[in-house]
Amino acid sequence: MQKYIDELTISLKEKVGSLPVLLLISGGVDSTVAGALLLKILNPEQVHLMYMDTGLMRKNETEAVRSILSKLGAKNLHVIMCEDEFLSALKGITEPEEKRRIIGDLFISIQEREVSRLGLTQDYFLAQGSIRADFIESGQNDGKKVNVVKSHHNVASPLVIAKREAGKIIEPLAQFYKDDVRELGRFLGLDNELVNRHPFPGPGIAVRILGEITRDKCDILREADAIYIDELKRRSVSSGKSLYDEIWQAFAVLLPIKSVGVSNVAASNNFAERKYGWVLALRAITSKDGMTADVYPFETRDLLEISAHITNAVPQIGRVTYDISNKPPATIEWE
Ligand code: XMP
Repeated sequence: MQKYIDELTISLKEKVGSLPVLLLISGGVDSTVAGALLLKILNPEQVHLMYMDTGLMRKNETEAVRSILSKLGAKNLHVIMCEDEFLSALKGITEPEEKRRIIGDLFISIQEREVSRLGLTQDYFLAQGSIRADFIESGQNDGKKVNVVKSHHNVASPLVIAKREAGKIIEPLAQFYKDDVRELGRFLGLDNELVNRHPFPGPGIAVRILGEITRDKCDILREADAIYIDELKRRSVSSGKSLYDEIWQAFAVLLPIKSVGVSNVAASNNFAERKYGWVLALRAITSKDGMTADVYPFETRDLLEISAHITNAVPQIGRVTYDISNKPPATIEWE
């Protein structure tokens, strides 16, 4: 890692000089590690970090991003609040690739608008935290044609393509697998809590809310997901590791169906009150790099307790299921 950082320091300083560098931050491990790297190697004054709050983030994500990046010494952090724009563009849309396309396009147009608002000189560099798997799954694997499983907007937006053609792109993690990114993050002194964070898709919870996306559904899913993740962090396996650290990726998915149930209060008072609640699916997998994945074999008791906690705390959810499909044939995300 030290050798990599030393080599990158020399090549990056030579390439960039004193020009501004704009890094697109998603809040995930990859772009945060890329940010830490740039802030360490370059003058923090020349590093601009741009983060969009699309309204499709995890609970408290934006506050966390602000605090982590300021601790890393960021001087120019641009947080763009654009929840309304994203939710209105997604109104009525149910088809997964259509959602991804809309989100990707909006990312690009807001990005272009905000970049020009920053007033950076024309020859600024664009940096990204894309890792090896992003290129492979987007069909951009070293020029070889691969079927696109899901479009990843961050690999080939017009801005990225233009900057790539102009030789003005920096992708310091392009050859890295997730585990190496984490190791690099630890090496750079990032908190374990941050470095061990599970991957999160670019389109955010939009691909975890099946069917139409509404603000209400986003809030329901965010709440349920936060409970699930907290539960995994405070439960441990026999080695002493937390369930969260044992699992490669875990998240909740809100299904586009409701099912019938009875309310707790009604059942304990001996009268039946019908409840019609959303169905939530929990996903937890083990994997090395996300290219293939195995379902995590929870102890039944953990699943039952987590399910009870979610349905008690989030009254809109009436039923919880566990997704027991490996990748392949299923992908990790549901959309
Ligand atoms: P799938 O669902 O394709 O996911 O099995 C593999 C890994 O990639 C993440 N993922 C994404 N990451 N932009 C990203 O940056 C995306 O559009 C995207 N879609 C999926 C997913 O969470 C999993 O870790």
